[in-house]
Amino acid sequence: MPERPYTLLSCALSIDGYLDAGNGERLLLSNADDLARVDAVRAESDAILVGAATVRADDPRLLVRSKAFRDRRLAEGRSASPVRVTLTRRGDLDPSARFFTTGGDDRLVYCPGGVAGRLRRRLGATATVVDAGHRVELDRVAEDLHGRGIRRLMVEGGGNVLTQFLTGDLADELQLVVAPFFVGDSSAPRFVSDGRFPWNAGRRAALAEVRQIGDVVLLRYALSPRFQDE
Ligand SMILES: NC(=O)c1ccc[n+]([C@@H]2O[C@H](COP(=O)([O-])OP(=O)(O)OC[C@H]3O[C@@H](n4cnc5c(N)ncnc54)[C@H](OP(=O)(O)O)[C@@H]3O)[C@@H](O)[C@H]2O)c1
Repeated sequence: MPERPYTLLSCALSIDGYLDAGNGERLLLSNADDLARVDAVRAESDAILVGAATVRADDPRLLVRSKAFRDRRLAEGRSASPVRVTLTRRGDLDPSARFFTTGGDDRLVYCPGGVAGRLRRRLGATATVVDAGHRVELDRVAEDLHGRGIRRLMVEGGGNVLTQFLTGDLADELQLVVAPFFVGDSSAPRFVSDGRFPWNAGRRAALAEVRQIGDVVLLRYALSPRFQDE
């Protein structure tokens, strides 16, 4: 059986289940203490994956922020921050995005064969473009990452990518942070879209932890027998 990394999905959402505002402006859902917690989870990861829409919308760095965590990783012989990974069908990624211009050189971009050549020319040495064949299938991406030594993968969104990991039964753990307000705009990106999820009224996920962090709440779900309660 092909192996895949331990996969932890992480995101913050409003009470009404949105990941962001609908007006194109960046919405801060989390708080400072929770961002520090997320930083610690990043520091434990070998790779962080987001969808291309998140790279375009948020222009994230996806680096470990705490110097103490970076120093610890370096002392362990690892890179200061995890490998950064994104997926694209269209290949519409800007090499001046912070994903490509900040931090170390460990970046992977999975795309269909039809756009790989163009994307390689566009991104140059900033990233390794992986030709994933006709379609980018997430189970194959997970196997490929495992083959590259990634044992712990953190998926930070957005909803499109989270939906695929969940419906594909490719996640071991879900960390949901609920912010204490509503977005109330159905044009905003939702946590997940329609799909057949392995967890439903007849097969409930296991709630592993509930933690209040200031004005937000962290819900940790164990989604597979591989769940690591730390
Ligand atoms: N609150 C949070 O914790 C959080 C975290 C992350 C993001 N967000 C928000 O989420 C929003 C973006 O989420 P989203 O659901 O619109 O998009 P997303 O999941 O970030 O990215 C979707 C894009 O990823 C690429 N993609 C996904 N699956 C693929 C596959 N199997 N093969 C090839 N490419 C694939 C496609 O890129 P192409 O279009 O390039 O083909 C697709 O359009 C932003 O507003 C962001 O702020 C919130």
